[in-house]
Amino acid sequence: MIDPVKLLNFLKGRRSIRAYHDKPIDDKELKMILEAGRWTPSASNRQPWEFIVIRNKEILQKLAKILSYGRFMKEVPIAIAIVAKMKTSPKWYLIDTSLVSMNMMLMAWSLGIGTCWIGAMNREKAKEILGLRDNDHFLTILPFGYIKGEIPEPTARKPLEKIVKYIE
Ligand SMILES: Cc1cc2nc3c(=O)[nH]c(=O)nc-3n(C[C@H](O)[C@H](O)[C@H](O)COP(=O)(O)O)c2cc1C
Repeated sequence: MIDPVKLLNFLKGRRSIRAYHDKPIDDKELKMILEAGRWTPSASNRQPWEFIVIRNKEILQKLAKILSYGRFMKEVPIAIAIVAKMKTSPKWYLIDTSLVSMNMMLMAWSLGIGTCWIGAMNREKAKEILGLRDNDHFLTILPFGYIKGEIPEPTARKPLEKIVKYIE
């Protein structure tokens, strides 16, 4: 088991990273990120997902253009598109694949690799660029790169008193 205090500090220390070195990601590290995704829990263990690893610069440039705030996708060495297979788990595909993204982000952070969840984009165009099918839901594309510059300051979080209710 992991030391719980270390784990909590690790979770608190993670930041969304939006500037990356152009240096390629080590293959062993990429494999660990993919494994972290593969070992995500899912409803009835249906694993309704597919991961597309994109290193092709042309495709990365095309994707950067259809993201609302994702210009940083242009400079990233690698990105993983997380695709949900809607038919495999019609009720839970969004939750299952969202959990995949968190597992991958945390694995990356432990390796000193930055990433950022990308939500704002034209998903239909993204699907077109990657040749996805009608039953595929394009959840997100996570850019992965070694962190360039300073790690950003922590973003604010609501205090526990505001978000927790106890029923004794
Ligand atoms: C569902 C979701 C969608 C997001 N979409 C974007 C996005 O489109 N572009 C972006 O730069 N950051 C995006 N983010 C990153 C958030 O802005 C970031 O996680 C939040 O500000 C907290 O900062 P932190 O991750 O450094 O703790 C998204 C995060 C989540 C969870």
